[in-house]
Amino acid sequence: MNGFWYRKKRLYCEQVSVAKAAATVGTPFYLYSQAALERNFQVFDSSFREIPHLTCYAIKANSNLAILRVFRSLGAGFDIVSGGELFRALKAGADPQKIVFSGVGKAQEEIDLALKHRILLFNVESAAEMKMLEERARSVRKVAQVSLRVNPDVDPRTHPYIATGLRQHKFGVPMEDAAELYRIASRSRHLRIGGIGCHIGSQITRLEPFVDAVKKLKGLVAALSASGIHIRHLDLGGGLGISYNDEDPPPPEAYAKAICEIVKDMECTVLLEPGRVIVGSAAILVTRVLLTKQNGSKNFIVVDAGMNDLLRPSLYGSYHAIQPERVNGRGLWKADVVGPVCESGDFLARDREIQIPKKGDLLAVMNAGAYGMVLASNYNSRPRAAEVIVKERRMKVIRRREGFIDLVRGEAVNPL
Ligand code: LLP
Repeated sequence: MNGFWYRKKRLYCEQVSVAKAAATVGTPFYLYSQAALERNFQVFDSSFREIPHLTCYAIKANSNLAILRVFRSLGAGFDIVSGGELFRALKAGADPQKIVFSGVGKAQEEIDLALKHRILLFNVESAAEMKMLEERARSVRKVAQVSLRVNPDVDPRTHPYIATGLRQHKFGVPMEDAAELYRIASRSRHLRIGGIGCHIGSQITRLEPFVDAVKKLKGLVAALSASGIHIRHLDLGGGLGISYNDEDPPPPEAYAKAICEIVKDMECTVLLEPGRVIVGSAAILVTRVLLTKQNGSKNFIVVDAGMNDLLRPSLYGSYHAIQPERVNGRGLWKADVVGPVCESGDFLARDREIQIPKKGDLLAVMNAGAYGMVLASNYNSRPRAAEVIVKERRMKVIRRREGFIDLVRGEAVNPL
């Protein structure tokens, strides 16, 4: 049970009927189960209880303030990749000493902001970044804690766009360059060696790539230690997958067990940066059927959510299950579920067996909590959707639907 279930053939989020939520806020909207968010975080975090660790939720997966606040209340740290994400984390009340800053291209202002707030670690991804961090720390008279993100060169066997840990990718530094970079860091009064890390990709559904990467890092930590460089934090990134269709990813307990087995004799605090596995299953995107049509032998269900609301199917060909809000016994139809955006790539599902819909029916796009709302855009001048959270019988709008006025905010009517 992930917070969404049927009662008398109607879909519910906890104790709130999806139809009632839709009648209140209109469509499309993202609907979150607070119980599912909490449970997903706690299951993940408690799986690592036997080792010193900090779960730094990856804000990029879903950055809504109220959702960050849920995790902060449960003791989470945060993985940020921009000044904007740092702003959000702080606004949600995060402890800066539980914030790690990842990303291959950090701007000077972003580094300065993070130094000002004394975050826990900068995950540094190149010699050039280390140099810049040193300069900025020197100029503001602070000490930056450095964690090198190394590239362990393992194949996570996921979609090419979300694989990151191979040599050909832009991320991290080659393992063989680490010792030299740490030596540079150790010579600076403004840098402190804080840790080492990796992130090999996302939506990974097997344990082996993680195990291979952790073993490689362990070997590197031992080699560094032998040369007098001691590592206190081991950041293993995120990447654990979820089941969108028929994938069978290891549960967090098995993932944690495999990692703990390797790291338990290391004298490090382990940092984890999960995103998808925490928020993915905790939300649905609720959309309304605008009309159905047939072009020759092809059936289409045109709904009011499009690629601007949920980009994953268009961008990665991702599968999201689509379920009816009301089970009506009308039989099945094979159809594409498409949005109103003027692109052939605007689809939520292709050739899907789906209950025969009627105009006005509500559909739920499942597992939409991760990389859903954060990737939404205003393409085709479509206001972005609302976000609603449910806790037991109560619901709250945690982001209001945009209006037309939001579309033009900051624009000038008059050219030169
Ligand atoms: N840490 C770092 C450094 C990352 O780059 C990412 C994700 C994470 C943690 C969290 O990974 P997760 O646990 O969520 O897999 N938009 C794509 C996914 C992009 C992932 C980017 N990095 C999608 O919708 O599948």
